[in-house]
Amino acid sequence: MKSDELFALLKRRGFLWPTAEVYGGAQGLYDYGPLGASLKRRIEEVWSSWFVGLSEDFYLIDAAELLPEAVVRASGHLENFTDAEVACGKCHSAFRAETLLEAARPQGVDGLSSSEIANLVRSTGVRCPTCGSQELTVPQPFNLMFGVDFGVMGRERVYLRPETAQSSYLAFSRMWDVGRRALPLGIAVIGKAFRNEIAPRQVLFRMRSFTQAELQIFFDPESFAVPMHRVMDETLPVLSAERRAAGERDAESVRAADLATAGVVPEFFVFHLAHTYRFLRDVLGYPADRIRLYEKSSQERAFYNRIQYDVEVQQESLGGFRELGAVHYRGDYDLTRHSAGSGKDLSVVLGPDRRLLPHVLEITFGVDRLLWALADLGLTTKNERTVWSLRPYLAPVAVGVFPLLVREHARVAQEVTQRLRAAGITARYDGSGSIGRRYARGDEAGVPFAVTVDGETVDASNPQHDTVTLRERDTRAQERVAIAALVERLRPSLAVPWPVPY
Ligand code: GAP
Repeated sequence: MKSDELFALLKRRGFLWPTAEVYGGAQGLYDYGPLGASLKRRIEEVWSSWFVGLSEDFYLIDAAELLPEAVVRASGHLENFTDAEVACGKCHSAFRAETLLEAARPQGVDGLSSSEIANLVRSTGVRCPTCGSQELTVPQPFNLMFGVDFGVMGRERVYLRPETAQSSYLAFSRMWDVGRRALPLGIAVIGKAFRNEIAPRQVLFRMRSFTQAELQIFFDPESFAVPMHRVMDETLPVLSAERRAAGERDAESVRAADLATAGVVPEFFVFHLAHTYRFLRDVLGYPADRIRLYEKSSQERAFYNRIQYDVEVQQESLGGFRELGAVHYRGDYDLTRHSAGSGKDLSVVLGPDRRLLPHVLEITFGVDRLLWALADLGLTTKNERTVWSLRPYLAPVAVGVFPLLVREHARVAQEVTQRLRAAGITARYDGSGSIGRRYARGDEAGVPFAVTVDGETVDASNPQHDTVTLRERDTRAQERVAIAALVERLRPSLAVPWPVPY
């Protein structure tokens, strides 16, 4: 589906809409309606179980979204968190250089200097997308952070956090004391991050206020043992920096064990890369052939990373592979910077003769991008029937409960709804329109099960008394199930997957 069509459908069904829509919206800001908010919460829940569930020493915290200036100075964001901005000399519109050069240079402009980008702008002959002029300025670094006046007098400067990861670094020494004082220690944050993107676009893809789910694993590089045997034979769709440099554009299947033995990528990295790949394929259910692990070269990767693999998914609405998350090896960059910035030694004692500033492995995702990809990859229309094939445990509503005839079956249908809700299953009663319309509405919203109460259910003389029809969304298969057995029948499909801990 095209981006516009997909957005129109999501708006119509109350998943999401532009912030301040009645005022014409605000660029890069979106609100979630009931179904969208619920789907987003489900994604966060499965993310948390899959990643935070890796160890008893991994914790989810909730932290402030405003950061003192000293924090973003120490982290390097004040100096380095910039995008190259090109302005039109004629109509004064501003653009991200990367977006402007997208057609000419699909691999992006990471790692290129300002003059190299300026040369590309000149040699490719790109024009201002607004007015068509070729009068484009030399790229300037534009800092993406939002600064805010803080306090009654507004004399202090704080920043809306540009990444949730900073909250984990700030929590490290407290969590070391609160926890077992052992490595690896994981600190996860799911929450809002803010970036003053030069060119917000493609709805949820590039927003100015968005949700990140990030896990920072603090570890000792000399002793981080991972259960490699569990992922050895996983084939990972890798597009390496080396192959890209040789002109290759497609990912190749690489056994996880081989990626590790190539010697360049340590086992602890490969294990978590495979775990992340399985999250997309097995937990969220994206088709394997749409996923790509894109290695960034030393010139391309973020200023804090030693190894970086972006996790990309191919989406029709976004015109190709797009980054949804990444696995980063950040070394001891962050704790070194925050030790220097705060004046507090953040190293930990690991033995009588050993102090260490722990290294960090970061697994990062944009939750909004995950949600959009679920819609892009899961929604299909065939013979005028639109179905959203969401895994049942992700669905905002697990069961639609329908009375076949409202006048005769509504009371029992409402009782069934309450019974399911009391068991912790999200059920929604729907008695409006024909039964076909109700199925169609549920299919489009990703509701995996429909329960219909009919004449047989309420007829005490019928052998099918107290049973209902259970319809499965994807196959449309129907079966008769006793009301008393419904919860047990549904529960296994709704269970959130958990990993085996380390
Ligand atoms: N802590 C590392 C970090 O923030 P990043 O690649 O800048 O790395 C991580 O961001 C993820 O956050 C991205 O992979 C993407 O999914 C999401 N993200 C980043 N900027 C975004 C934006 N403007 N709108 C929506 N999601 C965004």
